[in-house]
Amino acid sequence: MSVLTRRKLLQSAATVGAAGIGLSAAGKLAGWAAAKPEPLILKTASIEARLMDGASTKNVLTYGEAGQPPVVRMRKGEPFTARLINGIDDPTTIHWHGIRVPNKMDGVPFLIQPYVYRGDHFDYAFTPPDAGTFWYHPHCNTLIQMGHGLTGVIVVENPKDAAFDAEMVINLRDWRLGDDGQFIEAFRPRDAARAGTFGTVRTANWLEQPQFDAPAGGLVRLRAAITDVTRIYAFRVDGAEAAVIALDGNPVPQRFTPDALQIGPGQRLELAIRMPDEEGAIVSLRDVRGTKPKILATLRSVGKSLKHDLRDLGSLEVNPVAEVDLSSARRIPLALSATAENVSVDSICGSLGYSFWAINKVPWPGDTPDPTAPLAELKLGKSYIIDMENLTPHAHPIHLHGMSFKVLSSSTRPVQPLVSDTYLIQPDEKVQLGFVADNPGDWLLHCHIIEHQKTGMTSYFRVV
Ligand code: C2O
Ligand code: CU
Repeated sequence: MSVLTRRKLLQSAATVGAAGIGLSAAGKLAGWAAAKPEPLILKTASIEARLMDGASTKNVLTYGEAGQPPVVRMRKGEPFTARLINGIDDPTTIHWHGIRVPNKMDGVPFLIQPYVYRGDHFDYAFTPPDAGTFWYHPHCNTLIQMGHGLTGVIVVENPKDAAFDAEMVINLRDWRLGDDGQFIEAFRPRDAARAGTFGTVRTANWLEQPQFDAPAGGLVRLRAAITDVTRIYAFRVDGAEAAVIALDGNPVPQRFTPDALQIGPGQRLELAIRMPDEEGAIVSLRDVRGTKPKILATLRSVGKSLKHDLRDLGSLEVNPVAEVDLSSARRIPLALSATAENVSVDSICGSLGYSFWAINKVPWPGDTPDPTAPLAELKLGKSYIIDMENLTPHAHPIHLHGMSFKVLSSSTRPVQPLVSDTYLIQPDEKVQLGFVADNPGDWLLHCHIIEHQKTGMTSYFRVV
């Protein structure tokens, strides 16, 4: 295994050693941090890290001390435990994005759990029911905490999965750094009222355009999570045959070639890539959205061709998500809109000081002990269809905690019946998302462009 970058040493230590991220022989990964009797320790820390050429950045936040947050590995159907220890000044929590956990483990302050203050800890314990690619992040003062580094990828393994020749896990995110390498203002209000404020340095696993080696003619399972607070990506793979095999932790009903496939903050993409036969050939993963297409990471073929074939790859096991009953489902209208601009209330979990957005005309007041009423009270075990409409000129990755939905139809395009926790709704789109309210508790629903989330585009369902 080798990682080649322009800034070799530092990062390969951070990438491979501490985090266990990068390219590894498939199968050899099983077990670390999985089903151990003692909890995985996730301790927040403020470190200095090298995120761009020429300067190192102070006050980068991570779990652990040695570089980017570790890839957390779990196994489908096996108990997992982790202890969050807070080593930074800001209170924090962990949310296990996309994993259908019991409500008490969901990490949302006020609604669900107390803050974890500096020096305190909180124990998380749950059994992930679904296999796939997920991620974890704080749910407190998120624009700053996630913006400064607190985002990590989760792989929930399924021993029944088809065997790949290699696996690569990548965490895609930006940083808002000035020329001196230090953090600049986290957002600009006028951008928060539009598509959000973009980062200035773009990275994969905290590296600018890392290159990974992969066996020539082999099948690579690439798991990518978009953990950026703002950026929507459009994926393409150049130089190799590639197929989308899963999205947002669930296998796709029909595999397809990623051709400018749009994925928003919070979403995950799993690709099967068939490496070229020739040694030294380069495969690139690109973001082709917007005016400045970008190579995110590259793979280099090494060794004699394994001559494997994408078409031989078995299908992934479908996750045990309850099937929505369309005949009895109640409909929940949900309109995303801009709101009259006003000043929002202060909160321990950080307020951006503005509200620009609303769900069903109500802007979320911030994380308070006394939030607005739930969007709807749902009956445990019943089926629902969210009729979601985007009345704004921007795309929004809308994320539901605690339950997975199925995409039923869209007013603007043909859709596969994808099972997911986050839907990227385009301007003027109306979409139907069906789900069974089978997880009791209060479950947030919000835009994962964090500036939108924190300036009003948040609400919650109550399942009783
Ligand atoms: Cu990944 Cu409420 O978020
Ligand atoms: Cu949004």
